[in-house]
Amino acid sequence: MEDIKLSVENCYGFVSKSTVDALAGEVKKASETLENGTGAGNDFLGWLHLPSSITPEFLQDIQATADKLRAACEVVVVAGIGGSYLGAKAVIDALSNSFGWLQNPRPAIVFAGNNIGEDYLAELSEYLEGKKFGIINISKSGTTTETALAFRMLKTQLERQAGKAAAKELIVAITDKAKGALRTLATQEGYKTYVIPDNVGGRFSVLTPVGLLPIAVAGLDVKQLVAGACRMEEVCGVNTRFEENPAAVYAATRNALYRAGKKIELLANFQPKLHYFAEWWKQLYGESEGKENKGIFNAAVDFTTDLHSMGQWIQEGERSIFETVVSVAKPSRKLVVPSDEANLDGLNFLAGKRIDEVNKMAELGTQLAHVDGGVPNLRVEVPELNAYYIGQLIYFFEKACGISGYLLGVNPFNQPGVEAYKKNMFALLNKPGYEEASKAIQARLKK
Ligand code: PA5
Repeated sequence: MEDIKLSVENCYGFVSKSTVDALAGEVKKASETLENGTGAGNDFLGWLHLPSSITPEFLQDIQATADKLRAACEVVVVAGIGGSYLGAKAVIDALSNSFGWLQNPRPAIVFAGNNIGEDYLAELSEYLEGKKFGIINISKSGTTTETALAFRMLKTQLERQAGKAAAKELIVAITDKAKGALRTLATQEGYKTYVIPDNVGGRFSVLTPVGLLPIAVAGLDVKQLVAGACRMEEVCGVNTRFEENPAAVYAATRNALYRAGKKIELLANFQPKLHYFAEWWKQLYGESEGKENKGIFNAAVDFTTDLHSMGQWIQEGERSIFETVVSVAKPSRKLVVPSDEANLDGLNFLAGKRIDEVNKMAELGTQLAHVDGGVPNLRVEVPELNAYYIGQLIYFFEKACGISGYLLGVNPFNQPGVEAYKKNMFALLNKPGYEEASKAIQARLKK
C-alpha cells in the first residue's frame, strides 16, 4: 500500500534546500526530545505511541457502544468543543457522503457544546423534539462552559422525552478518569463512560474515545483509521532518516519559511469534505505554537471556492504567507462532463473528461500561479479519501506539530492563553469565586 507523500520542492525558490536540510540536526534533537520525554510539556506525550498501543479489544468495545447507539437512535448529539470535538467532526465529514444526512442511512450526527449561540441551541432542541436521540458528552476537564451548558439542556430534554431510566442508557460520557463534574455526574447516574488519558491533550485526542466513538457511530472504519495512524507512527519514527520522514521535512520546511519571514500558513484543499479537517489542523497548530509572541498563524482555505474570495489576497497581498495543499489523488466516485448540443456555456471542450481532471488542472494552475506570485507551496498527496489515509494524515500532522513546536522553542502541549477570555467571562457573569476579577473588570468598563 502507498503512503501519503509530502513535496516541498516548490518552496526552494524562497528558502534553499540546503537551508531546510541544515535544520535536520535540530529536527533530530526535537524528535529525540519527544521520544525521550525530556522536553517541555512531557506529561502530555501520550499521543506519541498511541496508535500502536490501541488493542483490538478496546476497538471492539468502542464498536459495541457505537452499535448500541446506532440501533437505538435517529440522532446522536456529540457535545464537546476544541479538541473534544474537531477531530471527530473532521473525520466524519471527510469520509461521509456529502448528502448522507438527507438519505438518513445511519443516525444523523449533530454537534453541540461548541458555541453559545442561543438560536443554535433552540433550533437543535426543536430538531430533536419527538426524535429518538442519544448524547455523547465529551469534556476532559468536565467543566467547560459551552459543553456543560449544552449538555444540561440536552439531558433535560432527553429525560423528558425518553424517561429518566431510558435516558441513562442513551448517554455516554467521555472524560477524565477521576476528576471533574462530568465524572461525578456519570458515576452518580451510571452512564457508560470512557476515559481521556491524562497524558493526551485535547487537540491530540482524536485517536482516543473522544474521536473514535463518534466516528464509529457514523459507521466509519475505526480499525482502518488506527491502522493508518500506526503506519505513520512507524514512517515518522525517531530513527527514520530526515529525508524519508515526512513529519521531519514538513516541520523543518515550515520553520525555515517562518524564519525567512513567512509568518502565515494556509492549509488548502480542493475537496469540500476536507473543510473540517483544516479546522482540526488549525487548532492543532494554532494552540500548540502560538505562544510567547511567536508562532506561524494558521488559516485555511477551501479551493476552488475561496479562489473566488481569498484568491486575490493570496496572489497579490502581503508576501508573508506560504501554503500547504492537501491533495487527494483519486476520488472515490466517477463523474464525466456531459456533452451539450447547443454548447451555449462553451464547455464542450471538457465533454467526456472527469470532473476530477478539471479540479486537478485547477489545482496545478493555482500552484503555478501562487508560486509565481511569491507563495511557497508544500503539497501533501493523499492516495484516496478513506479511513486508512485519514489516519495517516492525522498522525503525520501530530508528529510534525510536536517537532515543529520544539523547533520554535515553545511548549507545544499547553494552552495558557485560552484561559484569558474564560476569566473575563466568568467575572462578567458573576461566577462565585470571581468577585475580585469582577470588581476590576467593572471598574475598567466604567472608564
Ligand atoms: O486542546 C485543548 O486542550 C482544548 O481545545 C480542549 O480540548 C477544549 O478546550 C475542551 O476542553 P474539555 O475537553 O476539558 O472540555
